Amino acid sequence: MQTTEKTLTIEEAFRSHTLELIKLRGWISSRSDVGALLFATLRDGTGYIQIAGKRGVTRDEVMNEMRNASVESSVLLSGVVKEDKRAPGGKEVQVSSFRIVAPADKWPITKTAVKSRSFLYDNRHLSIRGRMSIAVMRIRAQIIHAAFDFFAKNGFMLISAPTLVQAASEGGSTLFSLDYFGKEAFLTQSSQFYEEAAICSFEKVFIFQPAFRAEKSRTPKHLTEFWMIEAEQAFASQEDNLNLQESFLSAVLKHVIEKNQAELETLGRRFELPNLPYPRISYNDVWKIATEKGMAFEWGNDLPTDVERMISIDTKSPFFITDYPATSRGFYHMLKEEDERLTLSADLIAPEGFGEIATGGQRIHDLELLTKRVKEQDLSSESFKWYMDLRKYGLPPHSGFGIGVERTVRWVCGLKNIRTASLFPRTITRISP
Ligand code: 4AD
Ligand code: MG
Repeated sequence: MQTTEKTLTIEEAFRSHTLELIKLRGWISSRSDVGALLFATLRDGTGYIQIAGKRGVTRDEVMNEMRNASVESSVLLSGVVKEDKRAPGGKEVQVSSFRIVAPADKWPITKTAVKSRSFLYDNRHLSIRGRMSIAVMRIRAQIIHAAFDFFAKNGFMLISAPTLVQAASEGGSTLFSLDYFGKEAFLTQSSQFYEEAAICSFEKVFIFQPAFRAEKSRTPKHLTEFWMIEAEQAFASQEDNLNLQESFLSAVLKHVIEKNQAELETLGRRFELPNLPYPRISYNDVWKIATEKGMAFEWGNDLPTDVERMISIDTKSPFFITDYPATSRGFYHMLKEEDERLTLSADLIAPEGFGEIATGGQRIHDLELLTKRVKEQDLSSESFKWYMDLRKYGLPPHSGFGIGVERTVRWVCGLKNIRTASLFPRTITRISP
């Protein structure tokens, strides 16, 4: 290849001048061969652009090399930028030199080959090159960027916590256990307990880390490994915690709306920024509505999935379900003074039936009360020893929340199944690729 100019990204190519000679590299995402005309779509890390070869204009050897470039081959090329209204984005590159860097075998992900969803996920190492998948992952990345920005601007310190742990923070039934040099250890379900220790050093902390749940059920909203963003603040009530969650989510959504219009369009998703504050409804009221609608469930149990769906299906804004009964919550949730059967906790529910995306609450900071709750839930205080110990050394009232990254991505992108929100999902039936 003779051109000496710097290789541009496709994003830069769209900003370059008409008739400019540019160099590009990327993958052949699709191609068509119409006699004297060769069209292909080139993809790189920034987008897509149409490239073309024309018999009579493009040299024969270049035409031949283009013809040999199968779908998903990686290529290097140079060419002239042309305005063309028919081309996506209004520009096309007329190829003057072309080289295959690494050829691709016949691409297996075709409309006719995709007979089942699982085929796509069996070939996830390849299917992640698809337009939808790329759009979802770009939105996911912006959600995470926005989260980090939000916490940095609001004085939260980023911490890390171990993945290998000895205690169940979210109940024993969803633990993955492993042998740790002869002792039983687990994969972490949440970093909340470590954040609670860290707030006495840093006051306001956040964390971005994988969490593991041995969920036995196959549902469109459960992964066995997912990413969680958690935040915890010292000297903070549940009211402070709800305010934090809604300003957090609002900042994240605003960022996505600003940065990801093209991706939302690819996904056919229209998304408007919900107004603040987000509505709140109590567990008791949800329970009453469910009973009236013939969807009764036992008071004190966690909300059944169909009730969660019913209550959120016709809403447009995220909202909180507050004051869950203590019997449906982990031992660490602070009880309500006015009614000790209830906790100072809430779930943040995504609209349109997507359901829970975050759980948070005020924690018990009093040792005596926490000891009582551990006993009531039949837990061994031995495994929570250091967590209890914190309560002896100046732990103030505090609160926090954890929001599931893939649940949030699923809702924002309007995805049927949470798998699509993960590059390489882990579910009860999938641990490869
Ligand atoms: O509701 P969870 O279990 O709450 C906690 O773990 C708290 N300790 C968080 C905290 O207060 N720091 O999990 C929090 C969120 C859920 O709302 C959901 O979005 C997500 O994590 N999540 C899952 N996402 C995908 N697959 C699963 N199996 C999930 N389990 C929870
Ligand atoms: Mg929850």
